[in-house]
Amino acid sequence: MTRRICMKISKLLLGASLALGLSMAAQAAQVEVLHWWTSGGEARSVAELKKMLEAKGHEWKDFAVAGGGGESAMTVLKSRVVSGNPPAAAQIKGPSIQEWGDEGVLADLDSVANAEGWDKLLPGVVADVMKYQGKYVAVPVNVHRVNWLWANPAVFKKAGATVPTTWDEFFVAADKIKAAGMTAVAHGGQPWQDATMFESVVLGVGGADFYKKAFVELDPKVLNSATMIKALKTFHKIKGYTDAGSPGRDWNLATAMVINGEAGMQFMGDWAKGEFTAAGKVPGIDYICIAAPDTEGDFTFNIDSFVMFDLDDKELQKGQNDLASIILSPAFQEIFNLNKGSIPVRLNMPMDKFDGCAKLSAIDFVNTAETNTLVPSMAHGMSTFPATQGAIYDTITEFYNSDSMTAETAAKKLVKAVAAAK
Ligand code: BGC
Repeated sequence: MTRRICMKISKLLLGASLALGLSMAAQAAQVEVLHWWTSGGEARSVAELKKMLEAKGHEWKDFAVAGGGGESAMTVLKSRVVSGNPPAAAQIKGPSIQEWGDEGVLADLDSVANAEGWDKLLPGVVADVMKYQGKYVAVPVNVHRVNWLWANPAVFKKAGATVPTTWDEFFVAADKIKAAGMTAVAHGGQPWQDATMFESVVLGVGGADFYKKAFVELDPKVLNSATMIKALKTFHKIKGYTDAGSPGRDWNLATAMVINGEAGMQFMGDWAKGEFTAAGKVPGIDYICIAAPDTEGDFTFNIDSFVMFDLDDKELQKGQNDLASIILSPAFQEIFNLNKGSIPVRLNMPMDKFDGCAKLSAIDFVNTAETNTLVPSMAHGMSTFPATQGAIYDTITEFYNSDSMTAETAAKKLVKAVAAAK
């Protein structure tokens, strides 16, 4: 059988099993929502969505798949869709929305989008990502900034260290915290967390243009350049400031180490702020948010969004449209993002209830768009298709965990892995 015929058959099977799944779904008029928001701060945030959907008379069926960054959630989602039983909605973001669009399984959200004027409510660059062939198929929730460093001022005080703004200062501070017997960097050794830390290093060491050439254009000369080798070395050096419990640790447990004063710093997107908020901590007093070293004028964005699957059931369609409409409503944008640590994606939202970190993020989001230093997060699926992202993850994690691989070898491996994934 040729590859083409095989593909046709598998598409037909997918279509038939989808139809079967849809008729089953018709009996249970519940809106099933796949997401990976299971940490303390995330759960508080998603609870707001559930509440608002229920207020519209729908039933929320929770389809939470634990695992920061969403890799496990995506694996489970694929098997559900292939077996013909897609949920009503799923947290899918960035370029992978286009891949799902190609599969022909997404619902067209244009009726809600046009009625509510989404084109005017959203920044143009965001709206473009949410559309497949010119029609809205996804609704954005928020804007997360990834290039943050979270710090515990009490730990810094104890160690006589200063919160760093450059990589040189970072290693001075880390040395002091280590010498004072505390963990300098709380890190969870999981590929997506390694990649989250790595992209901030690349941005700091190379700058926004370099970052874009590396992770958006995937330029082999840049991936294997002296600057990339410097970034790889810097990234690997951080490992010496993490603790023995780091491998495999979940991100929120790493955040808890900073909250409890066990560790001084964490590199993480501002969903970490959701954990500080849930623990009743106040920014500027109990913790400090500062741009990752040497990235003050840059902004790595990560936009969460939901797609709806194309289902026949009219009740479910109503539920999907209501869900989409709630997500962009001012009330939801405010309460959700206050809990989540992100900022509203809807334009012209009042920011008075938000804290200093969020206010700074909102200002920087606008400013960096003007200075061309607003860059998509590689680690969070904003800059490439998932296959390329996976190839970068594998190389970075292998290098981070190896004591013998040189940065030069890692840079060469990066080029090869990216080329093979394209
Ligand atoms: C998502 C965030 C989430 C984080 C940790 C990121 O990829 O965009 O919403 O909080 O992963 O799970």
